[in-house]
Amino acid sequence: MLSLAVKEHVQIVEVAPRDGLQADPADLSVGQKVELIERLAAAGHTRIEATSFVSPKAVPKMADGDAVMAAVPRLDGVSYSALALNQRGVERAVEAGVDEVCGVVVATETFSQANQRASVAESVQRWRSISEAAKAAGIKTAVTVSAVCGCPYEGRVAIEKVLDIVGELAETKPDELVLADTIGVGVPTQVGALFEGAGERAPGVALRGHFHNTRNTALANIAAAMDNGVRVFDSSLGGVGGCPFAPKATGNVATEDVVYLVHEMGYDTGLDLDALIETTTWLETQLGHGVPSLVAKAGGFPHPG
Ligand code: COA
Ligand code: ZN
Repeated sequence: MLSLAVKEHVQIVEVAPRDGLQADPADLSVGQKVELIERLAAAGHTRIEATSFVSPKAVPKMADGDAVMAAVPRLDGVSYSALALNQRGVERAVEAGVDEVCGVVVATETFSQANQRASVAESVQRWRSISEAAKAAGIKTAVTVSAVCGCPYEGRVAIEKVLDIVGELAETKPDELVLADTIGVGVPTQVGALFEGAGERAPGVALRGHFHNTRNTALANIAAAMDNGVRVFDSSLGGVGGCPFAPKATGNVATEDVVYLVHEMGYDTGLDLDALIETTTWLETQLGHGVPSLVAKAGGFPHPG
């Protein structure tokens, strides 16, 4: 008998084209980036962080954001987001016709200066303007609090400091608020406490998790966030990525590894694991180097015989 039970959904936001490629040594052409995005959509992705509209001097790998957005096919049901950190960025994002604008507020002063050349308070202010401009253009908004589990320059970050920023950002009523362990230092107990606190400080705002696997804790952190009701996560195909402004930060958690985890836990993602693995193999040939994903090497659950 067919089971009529509908599986609960976990949504993955694919960030390889932006958070992934911005820190990879390879220089992909606009054509290669567009092909990556097309392949990701064909594997079932419905939310893709396609590029960023930031200073090309600060992040040269994303200098072609306008050209990438002009060339990607606009498919029904596929939403493209892009990062914007100032007024110029959101104007470029609107002009490019993105579906969602993402901002970032770093939780610590030193990292905020390195990444955005602004204090934390200034970047909250910048986000307010970006959010208003995006909303006026009818575009969805998401804002990330970065370095929530630790900072490459200041070390440990007090949870209260993160939650105060969450409270301020919640006032802008983003469609989503993202907590990011940008340098991959977090552990499940900490992540659980952060999401529990964020739920209280940002009532009614959907929360999303963003984890880097620098110290192999990302999947454990995702499971902890899921225990706190979080059902949307960023991940990067193959685990490519890092952060140009966070020394030694390595890649985002690999999409294939997250998909394996949540599918085996009984959730649906709408993603085709085999197609993702095939795309990772293709991406390795484009980048000219291997990627950290484990499931891309091992495959999904074994089918003996
Ligand atoms: N798009 C294109 N160019 C931009 C831009 C944008 N959104 N924002 C700034 N620029 C250019 C300016 O035109 C200027 O160029 P010029 O030197 O040729 O005149 C230069 O960048 C500096 O502009 P300024 O307004 O003085 O910015 P800043 O030096 O205070 O830097 C940011 C602020 C946010 C623009 C910059 O630090 C940045 O883009 N950082 C990127 C951080 C990032 O993407 N991190 C990774 C993900 S979190
Ligand atoms: Zn990241």
